[in-house]
Amino acid sequence: MARQFFVGGNFKMNGSVDGIKKIIGHLNDAKLDPNTEVVIAPPALYLLLAREHLKPGLEVAAQNVFDKPNGAFTGEISVDQLKDSNITWTLLGHSERRVVLQEDDQFVASKTKAALDGGIGVIFCCGESLEQRESNKTIDVVTSQLKAVKDKISDWSKIVIAYEPIWAIGTGKVASKEQAQEVHAAIRSWLKTEVSEKAAEETRIIYGGSVSENNCKDLSKQPDIDGFLVGGASLKPAFVDIINSHL
Ligand code: G3P
Repeated sequence: MARQFFVGGNFKMNGSVDGIKKIIGHLNDAKLDPNTEVVIAPPALYLLLAREHLKPGLEVAAQNVFDKPNGAFTGEISVDQLKDSNITWTLLGHSERRVVLQEDDQFVASKTKAALDGGIGVIFCCGESLEQRESNKTIDVVTSQLKAVKDKISDWSKIVIAYEPIWAIGTGKVASKEQAQEVHAAIRSWLKTEVSEKAAEETRIIYGGSVSENNCKDLSKQPDIDGFLVGGASLKPAFVDIINSHL
């Protein structure tokens, strides 16, 4: 079965009420590839606003979720609260959270389990630093981030894996199609040996890191690239071209 192309927009800590309404209005009016699954991830404060204005069929993701049920956890958001607000996805393990907020593999895996157990889809981010790439550790880094998840979950049907090399994020220095394809293929082969043939065949592996309207076409033609997680360009009209890159 062919994997459905998937494009996520990670707004990060950007946007305002007016700005997010404008981006959503543009998406609602655009002609989007009906075969591509589209999910936008605005900051937590604007999740409900996004869900209220975005047309049905396009989904909204949180940028993070906590691994405990409702209770005394100041500043956090629970899986139940996302569900209550019709937010069907969450990003987890983004390198900005791993690096800036010191989230380790275990914590990210625990949040992944909590989200999946509660019925929320997870866009699970993984990727290496420049230093790790230069010392040939890319595949080790990515597979150990994935292994922490594998140790906690068994059903991979609601995970999308986002390979985001840290050196490519926000730098304008996109991975070449060969570099991205090589890591995506390695992740798929890891899924095959460590999880199952089914998970290897069906799990979407998307690429993130300086994706633009100019480089998305070539990347989208790679056999193991099933879509994109887009940062900066998801705030611009060019996001529509990226969504439509697989047409
Ligand atoms: O999660 C998306 C991301 O980190 C890539 O950001 O701005 O390089 O597209 P950007």
